[in-house]
Amino acid sequence: MKLALIGFGTVGQGLAEILRDKGAELEAQSGFRGDIVAVATQRRGTLYHPDGLDIDDLLTAIGKGHLDHYPDVLGLTRGWDALTLIKQSNADVMVESTHTNLETAQPALDYCYAALDSGKHIVMANKGPIALAYADLKERARRAGKLIRFEATVMAGTPSIRLAMGALRGCKISAAKGILNGTTNYILTQMENGMSYADALGQAQALGYAEADPTADVGGWDAAGKAIILSNALFDKPLKLRDMDVFGITHITAADVEAAKNTGEKWKLIVTVTPEGASVLPTRIPLSNPLAAVSGGTNAITYSTDLLGDVTLVGAGAGRSQTGFGLLSDLLEIGE
Ligand code: HSE
Repeated sequence: MKLALIGFGTVGQGLAEILRDKGAELEAQSGFRGDIVAVATQRRGTLYHPDGLDIDDLLTAIGKGHLDHYPDVLGLTRGWDALTLIKQSNADVMVESTHTNLETAQPALDYCYAALDSGKHIVMANKGPIALAYADLKERARRAGKLIRFEATVMAGTPSIRLAMGALRGCKISAAKGILNGTTNYILTQMENGMSYADALGQAQALGYAEADPTADVGGWDAAGKAIILSNALFDKPLKLRDMDVFGITHITAADVEAAKNTGEKWKLIVTVTPEGASVLPTRIPLSNPLAAVSGGTNAITYSTDLLGDVTLVGAGAGRSQTGFGLLSDLLEIGE
């Protein structure tokens, strides 16, 4: 499977590292081989080689700050813009992990159109296009005979989407509720341990949990984007941000955290999605609630179903290899 990585930050590099470190294992296990033929960054260059790029050289070059440091080899093209790379490369799949824009979904949405128009499957980590244009993309993908997968957009590689749309098929899901932002959960957990908000946010950024602009995390918008994706995927309901109550954690103080502690409670940023709508609200929950035990960058989701009752999935919600794995899991599915 030839891959065009559009976006090569934490997440794209995470996938590249997995392909490098587990390539032989994946090939032996499931006959899967992923060759990166194209890489596009916004400000650090682009590369294309129809026979595949060397992953060690790619990671070394980006580690030095620019893909210009990739060695000159015969057949290498430098400097095509992302759209040209998508259209002209021989990739089978576009793997999109550029920054999420929840207002326009651009430029990622145009990348998706270009990928489908040029006969490529799509695997997304970027939440924008799935949140804002899911129905349109699904229809375009159907017409193009291509697949669009987005496991990495909600709970990184923890299979929240695959659980709902795959294993739970046949059940009717009436609600999804959980903790879907790693950065805020990490900050709230560290504040319970006595750390300041600013220090905890700094750590969440260093761990690769936070978005490029962490306002999206602490303001609740990242969680809201995930709620919209779930609403699209579970209920075929294209919610808009303005239809939702969205509150983040920016107003929660050390004193609030302490007050909750004193009454045996914890603050959590809770996402609720039902066929009627969705919300993101900081909520004080008792320690007896299973979500109270979900700490640090970990996420959790509970699906309420007709046949099984509540089904809860707990796992990583952010991070380099964790989100890289989300992309890999979609690639493996496409390759089946
Ligand atoms: N910024 C997000 C989080 C990354 O903290 O959960 C995963 O979408």
